[in-house]
Amino acid sequence: MASNITLVGARDRQLLEFLRIAGMNVSSIAMADLERIALSTELAADAFVIDLRNQDELPSALAVLKRQHPAVGIVIVASTLDASLMLDAMRAGVNEWVSEPVTQVELKTAIDRVVQPRQSVATAPVFAFVGAKGGVGTTTIAVNVATALRRLTTKKTLLMDLNLACGDAALFLGVEPRFSVLDAIENRHRLDSAFFHGLVAQTKAGPDLLASSDRATLRPVDVREVSGVIDFAAREYAFVVLDLPRADAMMLDQLEHVTSLTIVANQELATVRSAARLASALRQRYGGGRVNIAVSRYDKTSDIGKDDIARTVGSPIKHLFPSDYRAAVEALNVGKPMVVDNHTRLAASFIEFSRGLSGQAETAAETSKPVGIFGRFGAKR
Ligand SMILES: Nc1ncnc2c1ncn2[C@@H]1O[C@H](COP(=O)(O)OP(=O)(O)OP(=O)(O)O)[C@@H](O)[C@H]1O
Ligand SMILES: [Mg+2]
Repeated sequence: MASNITLVGARDRQLLEFLRIAGMNVSSIAMADLERIALSTELAADAFVIDLRNQDELPSALAVLKRQHPAVGIVIVASTLDASLMLDAMRAGVNEWVSEPVTQVELKTAIDRVVQPRQSVATAPVFAFVGAKGGVGTTTIAVNVATALRRLTTKKTLLMDLNLACGDAALFLGVEPRFSVLDAIENRHRLDSAFFHGLVAQTKAGPDLLASSDRATLRPVDVREVSGVIDFAAREYAFVVLDLPRADAMMLDQLEHVTSLTIVANQELATVRSAARLASALRQRYGGGRVNIAVSRYDKTSDIGKDDIARTVGSPIKHLFPSDYRAAVEALNVGKPMVVDNHTRLAASFIEFSRGLSGQAETAAETSKPVGIFGRFGAKR
């Protein structure tokens, strides 16, 4: 099947001719029209080829394009290998860079790399959990859900602790990982299967863990790379579970391919109000269909009932997890998730919830974006 290419800001007819010779369906647009096209909900193009040969900066619409359509391939044609421009391009999610003298073969190869893998790779469902307040039980839920998914389905499951520093999912799983999610982010462009599996810790309970770092982050972390790491994990595993930091707005902006976003609340007024604010922001960013609420330590005699929470937050209550402080603390102290022994109502509740999530696996297959030239820069594959 011929690829559909949108050629943007072409300086002359050379690129158009190259693409036509390669048998591609090409439509040409002016640079000024890129933002309008990027904002459309449906894209006809498999890839965009952007002629930057007479430009010394990236069009700002590129970021809009990647944000609206993360899976679309982007190839830049430039006069030189300008390092700072390339860095900006990499950050904007550009997949390939071709510099002068441009040949027809080189351009076609670059496009094939960004288009072909996308047509066939399915990705796993990604279930994200974020607390409406600190200490509500988010990590407890994420850890037990990841463990239950692995045990119920026997499929490869990854828990990612996205609290970049000092998250505690590793404690809950009784492991001391050598590497962390920071290593994945910092090496995002050289991730391949072997490298990624070297970063994760295997756990006795079942799921693999990409842990939080136990060192404070001294260097600035480019959180925008997180979305690429999540996508990569979703191609390597059958299920991906995310334990999210609630106070990191940049991180909460990177969840493009997440299947469901569960806000964890309890029955305290301050938490419910904070859940409402968070739900509103997340619905605005990702649409209402993916955002829901779970109540941790649910007490049916509490003044604030589940209907009050649903009404205040304006999102459906997906699950109520009962309270069992003793079991929760014991499990944490021995580093063994509650669902492993499944002796308590709370453990049974995690399992029931996870069984529901595992049923979503069939519906979540989605195409994903390929690794392009920036995947090979600095990479020793
Ligand atoms: N359903 C529950 N019933 C009783 N206690 C619970 C329950 N879930 C979690 N806990 C306990 O609450 C405490 C906080 O849990 P957890 O670390 O999972 O919360 P968190 O929201 O991830 O916190 P943080 O904001 O620090 O990341 C722990 O001591 C845990 O054992
Ligand atoms: Mg936590």
